Amino acid sequence: MRGHRIYGGPVDLELAGRRALITGASAGIGRATARLLAAEGAQLVLVARRLDALETLAAELEASGPGGTDLEAGGRPRPLCLAADLTDPDAPARLREQVTDRLGGLDILINNAGRAEPAGVTLDEALWRSQFELNFHAKRRLAEEFLPLLAAGGQGRVINLVGILEPFGVSAAQAAVAACVLWAKGLARVVADRQVTVNCVAPGRIDSEQIRAHFPTREAQQEFARGLIPAGRFGTAEEAAALIVFLASGPARYITGDTFTVDGGMHRSI
Ligand SMILES: NC(=O)c1ccc[n+]([C@@H]2O[C@H](COP(=O)([O-])OP(=O)(O)OC[C@H]3O[C@@H](n4cnc5c(N)ncnc54)[C@H](OP(=O)(O)O)[C@@H]3O)[C@@H](O)[C@H]2O)c1
Repeated sequence: MRGHRIYGGPVDLELAGRRALITGASAGIGRATARLLAAEGAQLVLVARRLDALETLAAELEASGPGGTDLEAGGRPRPLCLAADLTDPDAPARLREQVTDRLGGLDILINNAGRAEPAGVTLDEALWRSQFELNFHAKRRLAEEFLPLLAAGGQGRVINLVGILEPFGVSAAQAAVAACVLWAKGLARVVADRQVTVNCVAPGRIDSEQIRAHFPTREAQQEFARGLIPAGRFGTAEEAAALIVFLASGPARYITGDTFTVDGGMHRSI
């Protein structure tokens, strides 16, 4: 049967040539994931609102292969960069059309774009809605749109970035990612027989653009980490990306319907 092997040496992640779309690839965890997947030889689609940041990353990735920009000499194909605001309900269908046109299909969907706005008991109604749009509905819509393509490839992957589910207070983003975790669990059950896995990755505190808005200095991060993160520091985007890349890999084919935390031991529940 395809893909079932006993490993006797370094693990082959079987990512070379796989087509992967990463949302929120212009910064943080998404950008780090793009770098790791490119190094494994995956063919990338980078999505975010800031097209200039995506193009800069694409040029970097294209030039970083062993053959530079020369494909014949082992260079990497230039990632496809697509600008989209994922809170636009029409964006997923547009992205699917563009990906089908340019790549003919998709193997890996990394639903990474997301943002947590400030929490509070009496949040504005519009904020609740926009947080659910970005942190839940956008991910759900993209998966629905790409599912036929993911299933057609025979080794589909959906990976959703969520967050640890231990509230400090009332947070619309956290409620939205809780919805995402439960939806993903259900989806995993119904697509498993089409060789598509669906998992979630829950970062604790990973040093990134949005985290720096709340913890701008190393001292601010250290003060938070001292009390709450057993590892004693915030994680790096690469540390979160490593987990995402493994879940996207061939050897992860039997892992589905679960949520994996990358948080230096921060969450206290089992
Ligand atoms: N870092 C953490 O500690 C942490 C903790 C819990 C959960 N998470 C989750 O992990 C994921 C990655 O977080 P990060 O910390 O790496 O974030 P980040 O550095 O702030 O990057 C967020 C990415 O999402 C994109 N994005 C935001 N709104 C978008 C929209 N409306 N349409 C399209 N793209 C949009 C941004 O690109 P543009 O601005 O160019 O559109 C950016 O590339 C997010 O889902 C986040 O909620 C992170």
